[in-house]
Amino acid sequence: MKKIGILSSGGDAPGMNAIIRSAVRVGISKNYEIVGIYRGFKGLLEEDFVSLNLSSVADIIQRGGTFLESARCEEFKKNEVQEKAIKILKKHNIEHLIILGGDGSLAGGLSLQEKGLSVIGIPCTIDNDIGSTDLSIGFTTAVETVSDAITKLRDTSFSHGRANIIEVMGRECGDIALYSGLASGAESILVPEIPFTVEEVAKKIERGKRRGKRHHIIIMAEGVGNSHEFKESLEKLTKTEVRLTILGYVQRGGSPSVVDRCLGTQMGSKAIDLISEERTGRMICYCCGNVLSKDLEKALIEEKKINKKIYEIAGKVSI
Ligand code: ADP
Ligand code: F6P
Repeated sequence: MKKIGILSSGGDAPGMNAIIRSAVRVGISKNYEIVGIYRGFKGLLEEDFVSLNLSSVADIIQRGGTFLESARCEEFKKNEVQEKAIKILKKHNIEHLIILGGDGSLAGGLSLQEKGLSVIGIPCTIDNDIGSTDLSIGFTTAVETVSDAITKLRDTSFSHGRANIIEVMGRECGDIALYSGLASGAESILVPEIPFTVEEVAKKIERGKRRGKRHHIIIMAEGVGNSHEFKESLEKLTKTEVRLTILGYVQRGGSPSVVDRCLGTQMGSKAIDLISEERTGRMICYCCGNVLSKDLEKALIEEKKINKKIYEIAGKVSI
């Protein structure tokens, strides 16, 4: 029976469990043995493996995080460490590896692919910063979480007539800020990809106050800069109390959205299909409503671009 390894690496993302559950059950239906690898590349190097059966993945589709755990492992960027990983996989007769993670983890997978291992990458990151897929697993759950937080903050901002800055994750990508801002009617959406000035935000607050608005929600992607300094600058420019909420790691947890569960399940199944068709060195992607695959190396160099049309719409509807 051929063996497939599966691991989750880097920042965890809600929906990873749906992928693993699907890959295990579809893989077993195609007579593969599925080997779970705990804690990403770190666990791989420590041979922290577990054989997975149909029951191993029971009752996990609704759980956030990853039951195979995750870790970062800077030494894995070294050639000799990757060679060690290849030897370990060969020792365990693991011929294929499915890697769940962001661009960093998938780069690690590409290194293994280039050393002769059969690799399938599945984009999992709340940042949604992988340009070759419309959605990364975890993103829609994070947007739901942030949108819910903003709705709660609007209430207290209204009660006290305050401006509220909400700092969200995303590294250098503004998608979490853009889509949660659009979904929750944030008056200002600040993303690293599009320049703005604190004066423009201050003027928008003053214009809103003149129209009788009692709250002003400013959603700020962490890649924009220091939210504490921005808050102080804004307070100096306006006669409005400004509060700052840094959402942090709550964005990485929670029960996966229906989209992340359904898309994750399809991606896990697609990974097994590609392996059975001996089409590896691929990254699974979601493009225009379809679950497809692209050459892993080419997929990782596709530039991520923010949707400026959506940014413009948000600017028009949130006044
Ligand atoms: P993410 O996968 O969420 O982007 P990181 O960028 O932290 O998270 O990467 C997770 C892990 O992937 C790193 O700790 C390291 O083990 C591995 N990795 C990242 N970049 C590379 C690379 N260029 N080559 C090999 N391995 C890498
Ligand atoms: O890549 C996902 C992410 O949550 C980023 O949005 C955030 O900046 C980073 O991970 C935090 O990294 P760590 O979990 O190592 O603190």
